[in-house]
Amino acid sequence: MDPIPYGAQWIDEADIQAVCGVLRGELITQGPVADQFERKICELTGAKYCVCLANATAALHLAVMAFDLKKGTEGITSTNTFVASSNAFVYSGLKPVLADIDPRTFNVFPEDLAKRINKNTRVIIPVHFAGQPCDMKAIRDLAGKGIKIVEDAAHAIGSRYADGSLVGGCKYSEMTVFSFHPVKTITSGEGGAITTNDPALYDRLRAMRISGMVKETLKNKPGPWYYEVQYLGYNYRLTDIHCALGLSQLGKLGKFVERRRQIVARYNKEFASIPCMTTPYERPDVFSAFHLYVSLIDFNKLGKSRKQVIEELVAQKIGTQVHYIPVHEQPYYRANYGYKHGDLPNSEKYYEHALSIPLYPKMTDEQVEHVLKHVKRVLGFVGVARRGF
Ligand SMILES: Cc1ncc(COP(=O)(O)O)c(C=O)c1O
Repeated sequence: MDPIPYGAQWIDEADIQAVCGVLRGELITQGPVADQFERKICELTGAKYCVCLANATAALHLAVMAFDLKKGTEGITSTNTFVASSNAFVYSGLKPVLADIDPRTFNVFPEDLAKRINKNTRVIIPVHFAGQPCDMKAIRDLAGKGIKIVEDAAHAIGSRYADGSLVGGCKYSEMTVFSFHPVKTITSGEGGAITTNDPALYDRLRAMRISGMVKETLKNKPGPWYYEVQYLGYNYRLTDIHCALGLSQLGKLGKFVERRRQIVARYNKEFASIPCMTTPYERPDVFSAFHLYVSLIDFNKLGKSRKQVIEELVAQKIGTQVHYIPVHEQPYYRANYGYKHGDLPNSEKYYEHALSIPLYPKMTDEQVEHVLKHVKRVLGFVGVARRGF
């Protein structure tokens, strides 16, 4: 059996043909296919506008920067995230304030966020960890009109809030960010996007993506060559080569999410009997696209270290990962923002126990059964029939 990673893309012949179609044409950098990709994302999420970008790190960077905030003000995000969520504040000169997580959903929650809001708070970036949407209505109520919200939905394309609406529609936020890295629910190789319903933010993001240049919308141009640099910007374009793949993949979003949820259901059923393992919790009122299958393992009770468990699974060609080392425990954040161990206890406890088990739509039933068999064995569960021998 081939190695089973913790996550992987699923590329089919239609995806390959879509990319080849761009390569055979004239335009290979950002062009008409990027426009189509953006329109499709709007269609799928219900957002009015979409700006596709080189990756979600760039998207988070531009999203915070588009608010044009004073240096030294503050932004809050989860400590249980990929560091790009909090780096977005640092790039714009904001102080990153890290929030603790709910022990069941592993997401930021209103009561903890409320404690971290002060007169300098300007932005909150809730991260929909593993695909499970945060309690956005409560977070919007907390933020009011004065604090902006950028949802980090890198894990959550295809997820739905408690009210049934789709993540990305920006019902509760100024902007939502997606990632199309290969382990994500759909991929464009590398890639990201921002959705918004605000036309002014949309215009600004589009300019910032191309070095801050404004051209088409300028009135009274002296000639066709003319453009103006109105903002500080970057080259964060996503090429049509990437967009062709992303667009083709978006057509399979429903199928991919369904397969992920099928595997999750199978895992949950089988793993429920492992005494040292807690399977992921999905709030009954939300719908998670399940980017990750994060289990909590009581390594003390098991009598094995996490490293030992990982190695025993690797021996069976099963890859795992830990999502995430809390951001406040990272040396850069400790050194520059004074964080220390003990500051955010829920996330630290979570980190001691977390292990992501393989989950991706291309997994075959045979691979799923292989994972089930070996995870159960490595975690010491030998089955009811053998108890007492
Ligand atoms: C929660 C979260 N935010 C942002 C990012 C950054 O995404 P990208 O790799 O597209 O820059 C990631 C990537 O893993 C992520 O998991």
